Amino acid sequence: MNPQDLAKQHAARAALDHLVPGEVLGVGTGSTVNFFIDLLAERKDDIPGAVSSSDASTARLKALGIPVVDLNNAGTLSIYVDGADEADPHLRLIKGGGAALTREKIVAGASRRFICIADASKQVQVLGNFPLPVEVIPMARSFVARELVKLGGDPVWREGVVTDNGNLILDVRGLRILDPVGLETTVNQIPGVVTVGLFAHRPADLLIIGSADGAEVFNA
Ligand code: 5RP
Repeated sequence: MNPQDLAKQHAARAALDHLVPGEVLGVGTGSTVNFFIDLLAERKDDIPGAVSSSDASTARLKALGIPVVDLNNAGTLSIYVDGADEADPHLRLIKGGGAALTREKIVAGASRRFICIADASKQVQVLGNFPLPVEVIPMARSFVARELVKLGGDPVWREGVVTDNGNLILDVRGLRILDPVGLETTVNQIPGVVTVGLFAHRPADLLIIGSADGAEVFNA
């Protein structure tokens, strides 16, 4: 296994320490979470099931025999485990590299604790080097892009990608995000925006950074 995958797997393994036996948990999306799902399969007798944040994670969970629970029937979840594209020292995140940002934000919001798992390449001082994903209703794509330009960004349509919700993604380059909470609010208010991939109003509660040797835990 290459060093970056080993780091992701170590972060994923450390997240298992936070499982609450007997309770449904939330599961995110991406290559780091895939390691978590694979490891979760070894603990499936401890949990009744998982709420999934994407069709891809749902398929992986089911393939490993982990029951997938509808969020509407789950109530508040004990923990939500997900990756990130960037994490700042306050555990505010950019997410959505895998286009699952809307469902990820819903499941994070419905969980008592959000545990973010990543390798060290995701840690930044200021968010914005990774292009900020924005999910938009298809008819609003050009209008939202023009509004994002007014905010100082350079939006690029992620052509060929349709989200699990049937929408499109704009990736906004050129932003140095000094006020993540403010920008999250502002972008979410543009008509046609479904979700912006900034997780600042609801940051992670814990960040587990894996390395080739193990994992380190950060609090906000
Ligand atoms: C998907 C996400 C992922 O959590 C993010 O892209 C990180 O993915 P990976 O673990 O593959 O680096 O937000 O929408």
